[in-house]
Order: sequence, then C-alpha cells, then structure tokens
Amino acid sequence: MAFLEVKNLEITYTIGSGSLKAVDGVSFSLEKGQSLGVVGESGCGKTTIAKGLMQLLPKNGSITGGSIKIDGKEMVGLSREAMRRMRLKEIAMISQSAMNALNPVYTIGDQLVEGIMAHSSLGRKEALRRAVEVFEMVGLEEKRLKSYPHQLSGGMKQRAVIALALTLNPPLIIADEPTTALDVVVQDRILHRILKIQKEINSSMIFITHDISVVSEICEYIMVMYGGKVMEMAKTDDFFRHPYHPYSLGLQNAFPIITEEMEELISIPGSPPNLQNVLPGCRFQERCPFAEQRCRDEEPGFAEPEPGLLTACHFPERVEEFREKAAHRDTWETVRKRLIEEMKEGAAHG
Ligand SMILES: Nc1ncnc2c1ncn2[C@@H]1O[C@H](COP(=O)(O)OP(=O)(O)OP(=O)(O)O)[C@@H](O)[C@H]1O
Ligand code: SF4
Ligand SMILES: [Mg+2]
Repeated sequence: MAFLEVKNLEITYTIGSGSLKAVDGVSFSLEKGQSLGVVGESGCGKTTIAKGLMQLLPKNGSITGGSIKIDGKEMVGLSREAMRRMRLKEIAMISQSAMNALNPVYTIGDQLVEGIMAHSSLGRKEALRRAVEVFEMVGLEEKRLKSYPHQLSGGMKQRAVIALALTLNPPLIIADEPTTALDVVVQDRILHRILKIQKEINSSMIFITHDISVVSEICEYIMVMYGGKVMEMAKTDDFFRHPYHPYSLGLQNAFPIITEEMEELISIPGSPPNLQNVLPGCRFQERCPFAEQRCRDEEPGFAEPEPGLLTACHFPERVEEFREKAAHRDTWETVRKRLIEEMKEGAAHG
C-alpha cells in the first residue's frame, strides 16, 4: 500500500438549503518522497482537497464519502483531538496565505517554539534550537525569530510559514499556492527551498497551483482537476510530452512551458461549471471543442491509453486529432462563439 491513499473522496459544502460537491470521487496515491502537482482553474476543488486532507474544512464543509489513508491508517472519522495531534508532526500544510497562518500578537520565534513543544516531546531549550535550525533551512537569520509578523516582508513571512510547517519533518507536506503572493524571483527561490527540504526529509508532497508550468519543474506526478473531478493523471514527463484530455490541452495552451520559441497563449473560453447545478455527462462538455451527444448523456470513466496515464474522456483514441486541433486558436474561437450564442438564447428564453 502507498504511503498516502485517497479513494473516492467526496467533500460537500452546504449553502443555505442547498449543497455543492466541491470534490467528487477523487482518488490518488503517493509513495514516500514523491511529489504530486494538483492543477486546475479557480474553483475546481484544489484547496478543498488540501483542507479535507488536513481536516481543516470550514464549518459548512464535510467529507461525505471515501477514504484517506496515511501509512495504512484511516484518517476519515478520526476525532478532532487525534487529528490535531497528527498535524505538523505527520501532515503539514503551507497555505495559500501566509498572513492567516501567523498570529500577529506573538513573535515568530514564540509561535515556532510553542508549535514544536505542542507537537513533540522537546523541551523549550531544544525547541528553540530546532527553531533556529529550521530558520536556517528556509534562509532566515536567527535574529528574525524575535520579529512579529508585521515586521517581516512578504517573502520573509512566507519563509516563516514554511519553517513553521516543516519544523517537525512531516512525512506529508501539502503546499497550496505557497508563493502566489510573491514576486517571481522570490517565488522561485522559495519553491526551490521547499523542494530541497522535501527531498532532505524524504516527505511526500502535494503541490497545488493553477500554473502547470511550475509543476513541470518540480513534481513527478500531475493531477488535473476540473469541476471537482479528476480529468487526467500521469507522470509529469508523460503529461507534458503528450497530454490526452481536451481540458489538459486547453490548459497547456494557456500556460505554455517557456521553450526557445515563445508559444502563443490561447485561453479556454467560458468558465468552470456551477457545482450547485451540475449537468449530466462530462463536466467539461460546455467548453470542450470536441463535445458530442455522448458527452452530454454519459459521464466518461477513466481510460488508460498508456500505462499509468489516466484520462476521463470518451475518446482517448482520437487524441492525435485533438492535439492537432487544440493547438489552433480557431478551434477555441468556435467554442467562444457557441457559448455566446447559447448565452443569447438563454437570455431570450429566460
Ligand atoms: N466555505 C465554502 N462554502 C461554500 N462553498 C465553498 C466554500 N469554499 C469553497 N467553496 C466552493 O467549492 C468549490 C471549490 O473551491 P476551492 O477553494 O477548493 O477551489 P480551488 O481550486 O482551490 O480554487 P482557487 O484556485 O481559486 O484557490 C468552489 O465552487 C467554491 O466556490
Ligand atoms: S468526454 Fe467529450 S466533452 Fe468530455 S473531454 Fe472528452 S470529448 Fe470533451
Ligand atoms: Mg485554492
């Protein structure tokens, strides 16, 4: 069994009298030391997966199905206290927003030392020694331990959050857009720091981002999500050499890897589906240039056109044609026009 096994995970939010399934039957596994990049546009469920794994969902969110096993141990249904004990020590999250992770009224050093003492058997002196060590690992000077969060720059704050998360060498690290708020040079430096530490402590890492080019640099596996579901999953090298799913083809146009020749950016027209009101069939049908009646009638299961590569599309055998067409702006323009027509019709009827 893999170190992390997620099976058929379902996470639901209640809103008023309704509900939406933000994560809908997601399965993946990860071995010790491996890294998985989770990508997809805003609202596809990436952060919800992260919070579900940490069991830090907001009050209106809950795990409504499936299983999460870490080292063979079932996490779903664990008591809050048991889960609290696991955090930081077994599973740590570097969140989307550094500001929220740090308490403004305590120095960074105090927060680190308290965190270490609460989750380990170390005394204050040893905890302080460990805090100095992790500060060094993330490239912060020891004197910064005495600073309050507001006295640090955005980059320093993010490094402090990383120090806080990695202080007890957690075997599973979840990084949710860990550098989005920072400028590109700082982003790059911090990403490489996270990676170096992850390799040093041989942790498994889930790296969440909307930018697939980052995943191409740092993750061994990639999982593409759309509307709460997995569209494609593969080894990163295979995925970037020959993606299968039409949504992946669209994403690769929108976030091309910078190669010698600068490729043209083509965005996917339209926006992700409203999860409170999902249509039957394929979740990508409205924006897919290749959608047919079957896509509207029947939800695609996973096909495995290559060993270890899963794609949730009815037509994996047509991939050559899809790749060729998806590279042209006109293909997506047709979708744009169709969506505009449908919107006009909707407005006329409603
Ligand atoms: N507390 C909440 N209550 C109700 N719905 C929520 C809540 N949090 C998230 N959602 C909904 O769940 C879906 C998934 O949201 P999530 O934050 O997981 O997306 P994401 O992929 O992380 O997006 P982003 O790239 O913008 O961070 C969205 O439709 C979102 O509106
Ligand atoms: S199943 Fe149909 S709508 Fe969905 S991605 Fe494949 S071709 Fe497009
Ligand atoms: Mg998010």
